[in-house]
Amino acid sequence: MKKITKDIYWVGTEDRETKLFENMFELPFGVMYHAYFIDDEKTAVIDCVKDMTEDAFLSAVQAGLKGRDLDYIVLNHMEPDHSSAVLGLVERYPNARILCSAKAVAMLKNFYGIEKNVEVVKEGDTLSLGNNTLTWVMVPMVHWPESMMTYAVEQKVLFSTDAFGGFGIFESIFADEVTNEYRQSETVRYYANIVGKVSAIIDKTLARVLGLNLPIDVICPSHGLIWRGEGVATILNEYIDLSRHRTRPKVTIAYSTMYGNNEESAKFLYETLRKENVEVTLYNLSETEKSFVVADIWQSQVVLLGAPAYYGGIHPKMRELLMKLEEGALINHTVGVFGNAAWSGGGVRGIESFLKENKIEMLPDSVEVMGWPTKEDQAALAKLAQSAVKALKQ
Ligand SMILES: Cc1cc2nc3c(=O)[nH]c(=O)nc-3n(C[C@H](O)[C@H](O)[C@H](O)COP(=O)(O)O)c2cc1C
Ligand SMILES: [Fe+2]
Ligand SMILES: [Fe+2]
Repeated sequence: MKKITKDIYWVGTEDRETKLFENMFELPFGVMYHAYFIDDEKTAVIDCVKDMTEDAFLSAVQAGLKGRDLDYIVLNHMEPDHSSAVLGLVERYPNARILCSAKAVAMLKNFYGIEKNVEVVKEGDTLSLGNNTLTWVMVPMVHWPESMMTYAVEQKVLFSTDAFGGFGIFESIFADEVTNEYRQSETVRYYANIVGKVSAIIDKTLARVLGLNLPIDVICPSHGLIWRGEGVATILNEYIDLSRHRTRPKVTIAYSTMYGNNEESAKFLYETLRKENVEVTLYNLSETEKSFVVADIWQSQVVLLGAPAYYGGIHPKMRELLMKLEEGALINHTVGVFGNAAWSGGGVRGIESFLKENKIEMLPDSVEVMGWPTKEDQAALAKLAQSAVKALKQ
């Protein structure tokens, strides 16, 4: 149990065991599930954790209770990474009243068979715990339809559920005590892959939450780090930039290859851009798990996508990336296309029609190389690289 502010403690957990978040996205630095305990005349737990880590959570809650019963369990979000330990908690404290949004009621029943002591809270409802008052802001689709935020009025703490979260376990749970250089990239990777699809809703919701003029001294999300003092503005601004698809002058190249021909083109593009002193990153989609690529693409003004032809279409490794990029990662971006083929092509055509369907701005100089790039192909690739440079906005 770690103290956050008067009466409010962290009772969350670290998960270094789960290899893939949502069984898809690598976790090189692990992930945290934050939960909080309010020590007042009435006691409350806000958010739970993933059940595989529940022992530490249950022990921390027990320590906080010092022999008292638990009065309230507030479930801001029903995704099992935050709700599955509720079963263990209810087993220990069967009298606790579970507070959640209207849409969470069916999920509690469907996931866990829990129907007893469930009470719905609505936007603006208040609950006094003694010295502390809780109130709620409904934030549907940040991250699920039932999502809500809880606000502790006297301590000015916003329990923001998945918003302002990130991947990673770092040297402290407090952002102002973390110097790890991966903190920010793990926030971006979480944002782009986990909640990026609902960016328009996040943007509107953040504006609405800020419009309520609740003074916020501390943001307590359900993943990532706890933000206090000046950190509140830092994470708010990071999230506003991400949800508004703000990019920076950078090129990200992502390619797939089976036999190395397309890789040769990708490397040529990379070297050409480096000679132009452009910030550029190169990803082989068979070597880097796509969440890292998506995160980098999210913030890059220009993206070059390259795939071999595959049965008249796009090589599957690139198709997999495109399915993820469809969630919004290319909004406000300019994309160039290259590929490789042995007979009638298909990779370049396929990526081009994907971009047209999704109304993404495209560079005019797509290049489909037949086999190993010749001098002429290199000239065409150099032209594509030049267009990429021109498309960068300072
Ligand atoms: C299963 C399979 C399907 C393919 N389909 C096509 C195709 O429809 N049209 C085409 O021009 N080439 C096709 N190819 C050929 C590759 O696109 C071509 O060999 C290309 O050079 C591979 O690039 P790489 O060396 O980067 O893997 C196919 C190759 C494989 C293995
Ligand atoms: Fe979630
Ligand atoms: Fe989550």
